[in-house]
Amino acid sequence: MTPAAERLKKHIGGEQPVFAIVLGSSLGGLADGLENQRVLNYAELPGFPKPSVSGHAGELVTGRLGGKPILMLKGRAHAYEHGDGAAMRPVIEALAACGIEQIVLTNAAGSLRPEAGPGSLMLITDHINLSGLSPLFGETGDERFVSLTNAYDSGLANQMRAAAKQESVTLHEGVYAWFPGPSFETPAEIRMATIIGAHAAGMSTAPETILARRFGLKVAALSVLTNLGAGIGGASPSHDETKREGAKATANMARLIACFTRNL
Ligand code: HPA
Repeated sequence: MTPAAERLKKHIGGEQPVFAIVLGSSLGGLADGLENQRVLNYAELPGFPKPSVSGHAGELVTGRLGGKPILMLKGRAHAYEHGDGAAMRPVIEALAACGIEQIVLTNAAGSLRPEAGPGSLMLITDHINLSGLSPLFGETGDERFVSLTNAYDSGLANQMRAAAKQESVTLHEGVYAWFPGPSFETPAEIRMATIIGAHAAGMSTAPETILARRFGLKVAALSVLTNLGAGIGGASPSHDETKREGAKATANMARLIACFTRNL
């Protein structure tokens, strides 16, 4: 077990979380809804990222949601910070070592469809890796040859769809294109992503999905669509817009996650 996993195991104690959730840009407020909150700073977890992006806190929060123990990660490392696709490896590895079997990944993303506008939510059904990176670069041994055929678990996706229906939350679905960032895409890149079958563009999540599958966790993933992709209807995305629109979607995201948790 890594030192981070040992520290995390001690924090969890007997309250085994039913899943972990990574909260994307401006979704940190979701942790406020947890009962019996206990906070562990990433600084106490060797190898966990030092968040450098505004809107990302750097805290691990455990507690109960709908009576069930869950674990929330407020803040993630992005590949664009140091050019390292494996920046989240110590996190995912520690979760797996502590017996966590499911992870929900959330992010902010640009929508490639005008009908799925800013402030709406999208269930990620698959991804396209346009980053030129892999979190498994440099790994030796056969475990690196991870199957990504059912990367976004179809059973968890069905449970997410059911929760959205129950809560009357509109949940779009689609393919997430992982761009390296940190600059936003060009309009030509957004047109290309649309042509090759993507429905959203973002700078995170896909490497975490690959790592999660590497360590045997099932994945569900949700995007908050904070803007239309560059050039669509004249759109020119900004980080301020991402934070503002992301915050607007927090209430719907919170209801969706709470219902998904209750139903587990
Ligand atoms: N592109 C990439 N990442 C993003 C976007 C976008 O348009 N919006 C929020 N995150």
